[in-house]
Amino acid sequence: MKLIFATHNQHKVEELKKLVPTSISILSLTDINCHEDIEETGATLEENAEIKANFIKYKYGLNCFADDSGLEIESLNGAPGVYSARYGGEGKNSEDNIQKVWKELKGKSNTKAQFRTVIASSFGNKIKLFEGIVKGNLIFDKRGKGGFGYDPIFIPEGFAKTFAELGDVVKNRISHRAIATQHFLKELNQLKKS
Ligand code: IMP
Repeated sequence: MKLIFATHNQHKVEELKKLVPTSISILSLTDINCHEDIEETGATLEENAEIKANFIKYKYGLNCFADDSGLEIESLNGAPGVYSARYGGEGKNSEDNIQKVWKELKGKSNTKAQFRTVIASSFGNKIKLFEGIVKGNLIFDKRGKGGFGYDPIFIPEGFAKTFAELGDVVKNRISHRAIATQHFLKELNQLKKS
C-alpha cells in the first residue's frame, strides 16, 4: 500500500517510516513531485491537518495523511497552539518563540502546558482525525541540546529533564507525535485487514 505524507519535512517522513510495517510505503510531497507549500490557514490544528490532507486528495486523488502540532499553555488559554511555529513573529526563530513565551508567562505561577499533535488521514472519501497529547511544565531557563522548537523549556510529566535533555530515543517514545502516530497506525492495520 502506498501512502502520501503531506509534508516536505524529510525528518518526519524518515521517523514515520521506522514505525510503519514494510508493506506500507510512505512517500513525501517531494517524492510525488509536489513542490508547492500548502498554506496552513486553519484556526486550529485539526483544520490545518485537514487542509493539507485534502489538498493532496483533490490534486492527486491519492490516499494520504497530514499532521499539525503545537504547544498549548494552560494559563495563556491554549496559546500559542496553531501559531507555535511563528509565535515570536513572522520570520522569527525558536529562540524568539521561547522569549515570547517567557514574556507572556511573566507573573503567572501556572506553568502547565501540553504539546498536541493532530493527524488527519484521507482514505477514499473519509477524513479521520487522530490526536496525541503530552502534558508537562514549562521552565524559565533553557536546558539540553537535543530536539527542536520549545524542547529546551518543556519538562514532560513524570520526568525531571526537558525534552531537549531526554534525547530523541526517549522523546520519540512518549511524544505527542508518537502517541498520535500510534493511534493512526492502529487504523492502518485495520485497513490492511479489511
Ligand atoms: P509542526 O506542525 O510539527 O511543524 O509544528 C509546529 C510548531 O510547533 C513547530 O515549529 C514548533 O515550534 C512547535 N512544535 C511542534 N512539535 C514540537 C516538539 O516536539 N518540540 C518542540 N516544539 C514543537
